[in-house]
Amino acid sequence: MKFGVDYYPEHWPRERWERDAELMVAMGIDVVRMAEFAWARLEPRPDVYEFEWLDDAIAVMQNAGIKVVLGTPTAATPTWIAQNDPDTRPVDSHGVRMSFGGRHHVCHSNKRYRERSAAIVTAMAEHYAGRPNVVAWQIDNELGNSHNPLCYCDSCRAAFHVWLEKRYGTIDALNAAWGTEFWSQTYAGFDQIPTPRVTPNSHNPSVLLAWRRFCSDLIITFMNDQCAIIREHDANVPITHNLMGFFDKVDYTRMADGLDFVSHDQYPVGFWTEGSHLQPAHRLAMPLDFMYGLKDKPFWIMEQQSGPAGWETIGATPRPGQLKLWAAQSVAHGADCVVFFRWRTCLVGTEQYWHGILPHDGEPGRRYDELKKTVAALKPVMERCVGVGAEAEVAMVFSYDDLWAHQIQPHHPEYNYTGVFSRFYRALHSRGVPVAIVGPAADLSRYAAVVIPSPFTIDEAFAARLHGYVEAGGRLVVTTRAGIKNRENAVIPVTPPAFIDRLLGVRVSDYDCLRAGAVAVSRNGEAIGSGEFWADVIDEGTAETRARFAGEYYTGKPAATRNAHGNGAAYYIATIPDDGFAAQIVDDLCRDAETHPVLTPPDGVEVTRRRSESEDIVFLLNHADAARSVPVPAEWDVILGDSAAGVVKLPAFGVAVCRAAR
Ligand code: GAL
Repeated sequence: MKFGVDYYPEHWPRERWERDAELMVAMGIDVVRMAEFAWARLEPRPDVYEFEWLDDAIAVMQNAGIKVVLGTPTAATPTWIAQNDPDTRPVDSHGVRMSFGGRHHVCHSNKRYRERSAAIVTAMAEHYAGRPNVVAWQIDNELGNSHNPLCYCDSCRAAFHVWLEKRYGTIDALNAAWGTEFWSQTYAGFDQIPTPRVTPNSHNPSVLLAWRRFCSDLIITFMNDQCAIIREHDANVPITHNLMGFFDKVDYTRMADGLDFVSHDQYPVGFWTEGSHLQPAHRLAMPLDFMYGLKDKPFWIMEQQSGPAGWETIGATPRPGQLKLWAAQSVAHGADCVVFFRWRTCLVGTEQYWHGILPHDGEPGRRYDELKKTVAALKPVMERCVGVGAEAEVAMVFSYDDLWAHQIQPHHPEYNYTGVFSRFYRALHSRGVPVAIVGPAADLSRYAAVVIPSPFTIDEAFAARLHGYVEAGGRLVVTTRAGIKNRENAVIPVTPPAFIDRLLGVRVSDYDCLRAGAVAVSRNGEAIGSGEFWADVIDEGTAETRARFAGEYYTGKPAATRNAHGNGAAYYIATIPDDGFAAQIVDDLCRDAETHPVLTPPDGVEVTRRRSESEDIVFLLNHADAARSVPVPAEWDVILGDSAAGVVKLPAFGVAVCRAAR
């Protein structure tokens, strides 16, 4: 399976289904995902299951030679659940119970919702077990969306208490870990601990971090319970879930453990997107590399944008060529199958303006034609890529603890952990350096260089792993606000960076939140960029200074350092670098670690690869709305796209693919 569509037979008259299947076959579609919001159709009344219509839809697809991914429908609960069990609806941070309507209008800790979910999933798993045409299960839909905002109901509160007791054992241990002496917040029992609803002042950062972890665990447990039911009945069919890139409510590095493969929803330009249809390549590439890194293997795109994306407001219309470009980009970063959302634009409901491949009238048009050609062009390329990734030499570590701790206390009002992460990613990506994005538990030893933006929370075990990595020859970059907090989100009482100060050869004796703006940074007296949001004042230690601040009372103090350690080296960046400074850091790092870009692409062009033992499949993707020429090595075969005399010609939004023997 290489290409699919998200299909909602329940939205269309029965007489239309065969025509849809016929049009799908004509454009090369191999698989459809169905049923993830169809609970009310599948169980119209409690314990009354009606699978005939779905059996029929699956049969229509089977007759056309199209496989099926079945969604469990727990993301959209029927009215009878909300009516019979009003407590299933979530409560906001003001204590107000939310209304039925929309979707995900449920609390994941609610006992009745869990029972009803288990019942429908069991009924579906029993009914569809062993069905030859069903090739995968998708659990729910975009879990975590429901916890935005989080649910603060009494059931969640009780579940939070159980979770806390398991983590801390005794209330004294919790009080000590959280420092509840502060403002007389000492607890006499777990049952006194609040869900962090609105208060006159901020909550304790420790309770807030615990709460984020609890909510993430709650969703993961909800998902894993469904996985267990399906595996009990239909053990041979793989299970997936559609993730949302850097969405922040669930720790995806842990969620992925419960899945057979990861899927992702890729919407380059939605109604929420800043800017026009032109988006920087790195912004779209970064979540794809993260999805690959979650299981260190190829993934599926379960929803790939197929038209203008709107709800109440509407995003820019993808220009001719962009749908192909974005689909090719997903493949280039490790998608083995791309499923387009959605087949036909809906006539009713919230998503009337979320455009599918077919327009409202159901007749093939510009998007159908473009994607039909895309499928034909990319399928042969994908045959060569199955199961193969980029084999990146550089990794970046993304940590949910650090994300959440920074969201709780961003220091600078404009500081954003994922934004900082993306600066380094962009600097590497724009140089044609493949990047693996991994969680903190990943084995780092296979990477020549590792970048960890603001490793704010730290413990000795993680620090020991970083020491080991550098001693063995790795090149490590960490940035400001490294080694500040313990895992309870309390400050470690040493001069930072805690536990890695000797590794980095620096001590941060003072700091400045840059509320008045950026500070210039220079190297050998020449301006190379600036530092933003934050500046550390460093006592020079064993580390060699690579760049200096050129402003404020710390003019001349180190802004970037390199410390040789064992067989490797550790860099400390004492601020958040702007793009110019980040580029310098990345150049130094790549030289030092002797990494090899695939090639250095011109502005607006992205280059990345999928690498097998015998060949590299190199993708050249033009995100600019003007033509570009890319000289490529003479020994590369251009297997998709135009080239002449060793130069690949990319039209606006053009795609080319080359093959290089290894
Ligand atoms: C996704 C979601 C789909 C659909 C789409 C368009 O996030 O998974 O069900 O809602 O967005 O809004």
